[in-house]
Amino acid sequence: MLARDWYYTQRRRLGLDSAVASIYDRHDDSDLRARAALKMLGVQRGWRVADIGCGNGVLATEAALIGAEVDAIDISPAMLALADIYARDRKAVVRTQPAGLLSFAYEPNSYDLIVSEFTLHHLPDFWKAVALSRIYNALKPGANFYLRDIVFVSMPDGTERDVEGWADFSIKNHDFDRDSVVTHMRDEYSTFGWVIERMLTDVGFQIVSVDYHAPLHGTYLLRKPKAGEQS
Ligand SMILES: C[S@@+](CC[C@H](N)C(=O)[O-])C[C@H]1O[C@@H](n2cnc3c(N)ncnc32)[C@H](O)[C@@H]1O
Repeated sequence: MLARDWYYTQRRRLGLDSAVASIYDRHDDSDLRARAALKMLGVQRGWRVADIGCGNGVLATEAALIGAEVDAIDISPAMLALADIYARDRKAVVRTQPAGLLSFAYEPNSYDLIVSEFTLHHLPDFWKAVALSRIYNALKPGANFYLRDIVFVSMPDGTERDVEGWADFSIKNHDFDRDSVVTHMRDEYSTFGWVIERMLTDVGFQIVSVDYHAPLHGTYLLRKPKAGEQS
């Protein structure tokens, strides 16, 4: 058995845990947006759904209210505590799991849907691919993976030119201050959209749709092919 002392430490950023959780302890229209996404994804009563990097648990709660069996997974205990409270306040049954993209427990071929929003960029690229492969294995054949993240919609030679534009856009449209954009660029692991697409297809996913609707946002709808189908 490998000691796995080379395995990536997902909890290395946990010093920021409570601070980040406090930002997420707020009320906005995220429940409406989650409901719309779950409707688009066709979630049904009885489906097994996982939200990995569930944050304050809004989407997980909305899926549970539809009647899905939901695993709300996050590396941060502070976030999971918020998710628990959020679900309980709405009388939704959500199973929380304190684990990360690289460590969440799963039965192979067991989920009807996995969602991960704005979480994958916490991992360097090698580990992103490992995480995507675990998600692929956890899904039932024919099931979907809905991935949203902060990605660079650019080619490498445009980066210098584009960064300030991205910062301006994020400040104007998402209420972020310049510091948080700069910190993201410097200290987190967002990567190019085309790198993510290559990882997804190499892992075996079929790309149903890709939408780069804002300079730093990628939304990917993926499908795990059934046996005998081409990936
Ligand atoms: C930016 S928040 C997004 C939360 C939620 N998905 C949303 O869209 O509102 C990122 C979340 O990912 C969690 N996270 C960070 N690294 C993770 C990892 N390796 N595995 C799982 N969750 C992680 C953080 O604790 C945080 O709750």
